[in-house]
Amino acid sequence: MEAFSLILFGATGDLAKLKIIPAVYELKKRGLLPDNFSLIGNGRTKYTHQQFRSYVIKVLEDKLNDSIDISLMNSILEHTYYIQGDLTDPNLYKKTHKFLEELLDQGVDCGNRVFHLAILPQLYETVINNLASHDLASSKCGWVRILIEKPFGQDLKSAQTLDHTLKQHFQEEQIFRIDHYLAKETVQNILAFRFANELFEPTLNNQFVDHIQISMMEDFGIKDRGKFYDRIGTVRDVLQNHLLQVLATVTMDKPEELTSKYIRHERQKLLSKLTCPQDTTLEKSVVKGQYEGYHDEKSIPRDSITETYVAIKAYIDNKRWEGIPFYIRAGKNLCRQITEVNIVYKDSAMKPSPNVLTFRIQPDESIVLRFFVTKPGPTNELQPANLQFHYKHLGESLMDAYSRVLLDAFQGNQTLFTLAEGVEAEWKFVDPILHYWTEKGIKPYTYKKGSWGPTEASELLMRDNREWIEPSVDLQTNS
Ligand code: BG6
Repeated sequence: MEAFSLILFGATGDLAKLKIIPAVYELKKRGLLPDNFSLIGNGRTKYTHQQFRSYVIKVLEDKLNDSIDISLMNSILEHTYYIQGDLTDPNLYKKTHKFLEELLDQGVDCGNRVFHLAILPQLYETVINNLASHDLASSKCGWVRILIEKPFGQDLKSAQTLDHTLKQHFQEEQIFRIDHYLAKETVQNILAFRFANELFEPTLNNQFVDHIQISMMEDFGIKDRGKFYDRIGTVRDVLQNHLLQVLATVTMDKPEELTSKYIRHERQKLLSKLTCPQDTTLEKSVVKGQYEGYHDEKSIPRDSITETYVAIKAYIDNKRWEGIPFYIRAGKNLCRQITEVNIVYKDSAMKPSPNVLTFRIQPDESIVLRFFVTKPGPTNELQPANLQFHYKHLGESLMDAYSRVLLDAFQGNQTLFTLAEGVEAEWKFVDPILHYWTEKGIKPYTYKKGSWGPTEASELLMRDNREWIEPSVDLQTNS
């Protein structure tokens, strides 16, 4: 891989600490970073280069405990730098430009640059405009790429404006809109499972499938992200992006070719067919929840009605999925930490249907097919059983999604990044919900920490004579 510099805006923030810095280390460990790689952090904290290096060490120690390879870490630190400054201050960009030029003169930077915006979304446009006006959107002797975290915009209109700003200064092949769920190996493997195995694909349609459930349950709250989270809420944080992308991955048509262009196109096509419940049905199709004690979290106003939980019923307006409901739920401070997709097959005799195909995205990443067998002994009684595959049995660790995001961006591979049209389709789907909530001042149902979420979410399925599939903690125990 060609040498390059990663300029990380928001280097002292949560995302950098939890995901990005550890991902850089993982890539180095796997031998996937070039020798001449520089990490240039930016933040408001007054650090010297050396202090930032100590910060990076601390981040890695906290995350990886004793398993850090010191010489590996030192080789990253050797080219780790820090530029202090406020993102709204033009001086920051002047300093960055000057610093990069100096590195270039010293032969440390070779002109290839990745700007990663791990910052509050409301600052994206300020940074983009400043990069452009300080001559940082292009490089005189290399390539420049820009990585943008989700949520991309606050709604359709702001996403379009943001995209317009971006495209004024960057070409599409320079723009990497991150949705790290797409980079999870278990999500990519849904495509492989579907299209490399002829057995299942013919069953993925309204002839065989009764409905599909997607659950993203987290057993922790908003941590120190109150300022970010309260502006965003669960719909913008994970439904509009991660979960709709997972839904698209499970339901999109087979791409003409399994290449970046065709895969992105099919995903986008599917997203544009999502139909959100309309005004009259919204109240019955979407459940807004908030955990008890949310108002006591740091930076949360006492009267906040931001959701920390959402459950929704939706449809896809195409021939393949006509009439098949999709139930999606996501929330914080629930009783489990689990993300999975359940494809529930039709069964004329049994309710609930015994046949469920599960893609467990995390943890205990696995694929499971449930069915009935007769109980041993002289009986016709049936009992559930599973055919299951667990990634952990492959004996190799899965690559962290953020490592994959960075690797692909560094290599210029956009397959796992979203298209502007895809992001717009996602907003078109969730905008009516958000507008409805705002216009009507809809308050969330409260739920207890450590529960399954508001009871209204169960009623959403009960009304259709269905129920949420309760994910087991570790499917392995059922074997
Ligand atoms: C992030 C959200 O995008 O994804 C977080 O902002 C959420 O709120 C996180 O916790 C979940 O990611 P993962 O990879 O840990 O499932």
